[in-house]
Amino acid sequence: MSLKNVPKVELHLHLEGAAPPAFIRGLAKRKNMDISGVFDADGGYAFTDFRHFLQVYEAATATLQTPEDYHRLTLAVLEESAANGVIYTESFLSPDFCGGRDVGAWREYLHAIRDAADQAEREFGIVMRGIVTCIRHFGPEKARQTALCAAETAGDWLTGFGLAGDERVGKPKDFAYAFDMAREAGLRLTAHAGEWGGAQSVRDALHDLRVERIGHGVRAAEDPALVEELAETGTVLEVCPGSNIALGLFRSWRSHPIGGFFDKGLKVTVSTDDPPFFHTSMTREYDRLADAFGWDDAVFTTLNTTAVNAAFCDDDTRAALL
Ligand code: ADE
Ligand code: ZN
Repeated sequence: MSLKNVPKVELHLHLEGAAPPAFIRGLAKRKNMDISGVFDADGGYAFTDFRHFLQVYEAATATLQTPEDYHRLTLAVLEESAANGVIYTESFLSPDFCGGRDVGAWREYLHAIRDAADQAEREFGIVMRGIVTCIRHFGPEKARQTALCAAETAGDWLTGFGLAGDERVGKPKDFAYAFDMAREAGLRLTAHAGEWGGAQSVRDALHDLRVERIGHGVRAAEDPALVEELAETGTVLEVCPGSNIALGLFRSWRSHPIGGFFDKGLKVTVSTDDPPFFHTSMTREYDRLADAFGWDDAVFTTLNTTAVNAAFCDDDTRAALL
């Protein structure tokens, strides 16, 4: 039986990474852009490894050029999430792609995304909040400009700041200035770590960026002392098992560390990351996890309660989800 109708809370979703291939193809056609290398013979996104994934992601994103494009994208993404039982989603938003980190342009993109989110809440009953993310392989200076965009628009809807991109480039401390600026503006903090970097990368993100959540964090499994520290500190992990498996980090659902993490009492949550790229959805994540680990409704309720408590929203919004 599918877990499609179980209510779900998702904390880690890249807005551009959730764009259906047909949506991007349509935009490319309308704009006369040749992005044929982005797709495979079946019309899905085509990539061979993580670095190539990032290139394809950025090539697909190049078709998104106006606030109106982002309005339509946000509506399409939230409709699909709601169809999979998602009642609350936190999405990574990128001023790098939305107006080239210019604060004025960013405001216009954010306004369009938020307007679409309000419409989706009315029409599909899904609640969204935004997390501005800087992109590690674009470097610390662009991250600083991104943090300025985030700080200027921080509030009850734009509630977080994060770090995504290629973890093998640079160190978390290179981004400390951007994270300090975001923290000063009242934003809650998360960073991708322990996906392509090992346990030390997770430690560095926690200690140098002082984040309260870690995106992925799965490579912590290589270091039992770190697993213990994560359990003791109650650090929340935004785990995206289908993404990790599609990108070749783990060979199977059974061998994914999320099962052991949950058994050891870590605060794990489940998300899709970039669902069409990885041929996944929140329903598929739940179904595969139930198959692999024998997880039942009680486990999924625990995961969702953890996610609601770790969500970067205000307490009234949180209370409505519990
Ligand atoms: N951006 C989109 N998906 C990502 C991932 N899985 N890791 C790092 N950056 C990303
Ligand atoms: Zn991610």
